Amino acid sequence: MAGTLVTSDETSFDVLIIGAGISGINAAYRLRQSFPQYRYAILEARDRIGGTWDLFRYPGIRSDSDLYTFGFSWYPWNRSNPIGEGKDILAYLQDAMTTHSISPHVLFQHRVLSVEWDQRSWTVNIQHDGSQFQYTAKFLIFGTGYYDYNEPLAAEIPGIENFKGNVIHPQFWPEDFDYTDKNIVVIGSGATAVTLVPKLAEKADSVTMLQRSPSYLAVVMNRYNGGWLSRILPTMIYYYINRLKNLVFDRVLFAFCKTYPNAARNMFQKGLLKHLPPGYPLSPNFKPRYNPWEQRLCVSPNGDFFAALRSGKAHVETGYIETVDSDGIQLKSGKKLSADTIVTATGLKIQFVGGIPIIVNGEKIDPSEKHMWNGFMLQDMPNAAIMLGYTNASWTLGADASMSSICRLLKLMERKGYTVACPTLKDSSNLEPRPLLDLTSNYIKHAQSVPRAASLRPWMGRTNYFSDLWFATFGNITNGLTLSA
Ligand SMILES: Cc1cc2nc3c(=O)[nH]c(=O)nc-3n(C[C@H](O)[C@H](O)[C@H](O)COP(=O)(O)OP(=O)(O)OC[C@H]3O[C@@H](n4cnc5c(N)ncnc54)[C@H](O)[C@@H]3O)c2cc1C
Ligand SMILES: *[C@@H]1O[C@H](CO)[C@@H](O)[C@H](O)[C@H]1NC(C)=O
Ligand SMILES: *[C@@H]1O[C@H](CO)[C@@H](O)[C@H](O)[C@H]1NC(C)=O
Ligand SMILES: *[C@@H]1O[C@H](CO)[C@@H](O)[C@H](O)[C@H]1NC(C)=O
Repeated sequence: MAGTLVTSDETSFDVLIIGAGISGINAAYRLRQSFPQYRYAILEARDRIGGTWDLFRYPGIRSDSDLYTFGFSWYPWNRSNPIGEGKDILAYLQDAMTTHSISPHVLFQHRVLSVEWDQRSWTVNIQHDGSQFQYTAKFLIFGTGYYDYNEPLAAEIPGIENFKGNVIHPQFWPEDFDYTDKNIVVIGSGATAVTLVPKLAEKADSVTMLQRSPSYLAVVMNRYNGGWLSRILPTMIYYYINRLKNLVFDRVLFAFCKTYPNAARNMFQKGLLKHLPPGYPLSPNFKPRYNPWEQRLCVSPNGDFFAALRSGKAHVETGYIETVDSDGIQLKSGKKLSADTIVTATGLKIQFVGGIPIIVNGEKIDPSEKHMWNGFMLQDMPNAAIMLGYTNASWTLGADASMSSICRLLKLMERKGYTVACPTLKDSSNLEPRPLLDLTSNYIKHAQSVPRAASLRPWMGRTNYFSDLWFATFGNITNGLTLSA
């Protein structure tokens, strides 16, 4: 069943979605379900769908989340491994789009340069094929993700310019790079480093993960464990059982870590002892300085990271860089790590709404001076939703909870004859500030122009899936919102 396909002379839409990643695709699906009559398009700067899952091409690229919760609730992930490889996730997104006739709505190489609100509609300035033009829309949905596509987080690595070998950032991995027999140092200890190290160790001569301080690493089984239940239950039901199981498990684990940090710390560290090479001490390489879930938890599917350590090809080093010279890294401790390749897995540069300038009635909005409204609209920005997911659960859950709320809001506007909805905050002096992204990770600490959040609805960020779903269904969707005809 095809929707209204975008034709070349169409310039005004009911809804324009910016970004064809997970959030944009999900938004399109939900919109179509609730408002089949709406004219919409997805504007995508790149020439392929998938966002993150198309951009990142480093060896071993995979999710950390299980696809039962990271995938769409309306399109079951039916592979036998809960944690997906990048290419499989991309194929899954493509399938989901094709099956639900979303693909014909995507306009590729349509980069949004800025958006301007004037009284009752948005004008979207677009660059395509060397020319610039404008589309208009009544409502905007930003599915632009949360980081800068063009520039990773600037990492100060002293002396890196003296290095004679290859320096690679995972965001721009050269696909033809042959790492056979290389001597590699991966700088970083986050999800990317933990993914890369075992994969590189398969072919490289040696791979050392150089970290300033350790992260929590949880070994998760990534195999089909369905057994008899999966054989007797229909696929959909089996999928929903797994989804619910993971939703509840993640929530309980997070709550446990926050309530009993010491017990959680012990639990994680005991878990590691089973996987580390015999006699390998926890300190300093596997003893994080923070408590579990103050930063995003890294996972090691089937213990691949530890298998690489046990093989003797992968190593971990905790320390600070004194300087990089032509053939390796000199540590402050005096130790020298020789290398012919350095991978800087030092993180993403956080960017809100893809850095797109927002102009409302002639004035440019500075997001860092505004509060988020229920985690998906911005104060003083009419008729626009911003898809942000969770940082401590699957992103998609948060983006989908937002879409449920948006569909309810659009229904209400239609029913009551409103055309404009704008979050308005008269007095912010009695709001208790809270960070929008509740993690202490380095890349989040460096985030700029991220909106503000408070501790109470409606002026707060995301909470958790269950309470966000509750809000989407029953919450007061007009509190803090100025509605007009
Ligand atoms: C390596 C890696 C692994 C990850 N693993 C997980 C995980 O396991 N679980 C999890 O929950 N999260 C994970 N994340 C976070 C992940 O980015 C999100 O979960 C999810 O993919 C974000 O989807 P999105 O659609 O919101 O944004 P993105 O995937 O970032 O897509 C944004 C899209 O918007 C487009 N766009 C941006 N600006 C413009 C513009 N001006 N005009 C037009 N188009 C524009 C981009 O081209 C892109 O296609 C991971 C992130 C990375 C980098
Ligand atoms: C899994 O889903 C794909 C579509 O993504 C479909 O082609 C395939 O037949 C499905 N496989 C099973 C085992 O259901
Ligand atoms: C994520 O963090 C928020 C804020 O700390 C918390 O309310 C929520 O329950 C957490 N999510 C999960 C899945 O535990
Ligand atoms: C929602 O909140 C607004 C503002 O606080 C209030 O006027 C309105 O009555 C509330 N609606 C419901 C259904 O509770």
